[in-house]
Amino acid sequence: MDRLDAAQISLPGVEIQVVERCPSTNTALLKRNSDGPTLLAAEEQTAGRGRRGRRWHSPAGAGVTFSLAARVRRPLREMPALSLVAGVAASRALRSLGVAGAALKWPNDLVVDGAKLGGILVETRANGAGCHAVIGIGINCHRVPQLEAKVGRELAFVDDHARVSRNGVIQEVAGALLHGLREFESRGLDAVRADWEAMHAHAGQRLRVRLADGRVITGIASGLGENGALQIKTRQGLRAVTSGRVVSARAA
Ligand code: BTN
Repeated sequence: MDRLDAAQISLPGVEIQVVERCPSTNTALLKRNSDGPTLLAAEEQTAGRGRRGRRWHSPAGAGVTFSLAARVRRPLREMPALSLVAGVAASRALRSLGVAGAALKWPNDLVVDGAKLGGILVETRANGAGCHAVIGIGINCHRVPQLEAKVGRELAFVDDHARVSRNGVIQEVAGALLHGLREFESRGLDAVRADWEAMHAHAGQRLRVRLADGRVITGIASGLGENGALQIKTRQGLRAVTSGRVVSARAA
């Protein structure tokens, strides 16, 4: 079995810690207020958290579950774009490892042919001229047959596309993430906008999107608006969705 091992993850300037088990690597790093970048990876999370209050399920040793904490110097109003920056970084890294079909579902689900390969949970706290960000990433690596039944959806696994250890996945994804954060600090969302749109699994498709207040809108996916909003061309005009969930997509 490929065990996680901090000595096999090389990220200059980053404090790296691997633990056997913890409730959630995001929760653990949010409690610390580390100065420099810190990465915490766990073989198993006992209370892994997903977006919108959901659970993140990843059986011990089967996937990659880690969080990276770092200071990010950009105006606070731009921080919603961080989750897109993280999605682009993870997708770039997975493609470079051989997962050629890695793509993004807004805002930052990692998918292959519509099946979920991974998810990203970004949590921020204001800190001087910027924020303290904790970016948590979960990626399915080794296929676990019962997992799809448990989460009730089709899943994708790195193993089905590339031969790479979980330490290798962490190194590549975290390295791309650090690079993405530097790009974001110097140029904001524009640094990754073109890549996000190029890797968008539903670009130009007809989407149904459930908004945060429960209403559903339908229209054509038309790229990213300010601060990472998903632009939908509806019959009433262009709508910018800042909070919501894509419930279905089909060719326009
Ligand atoms: C989602 O798709 O809902 C986001 C899932 C994020 C899961 C990762 S696993 C590492 C980090 N720790 C957590 O508790 N959640 C994130």
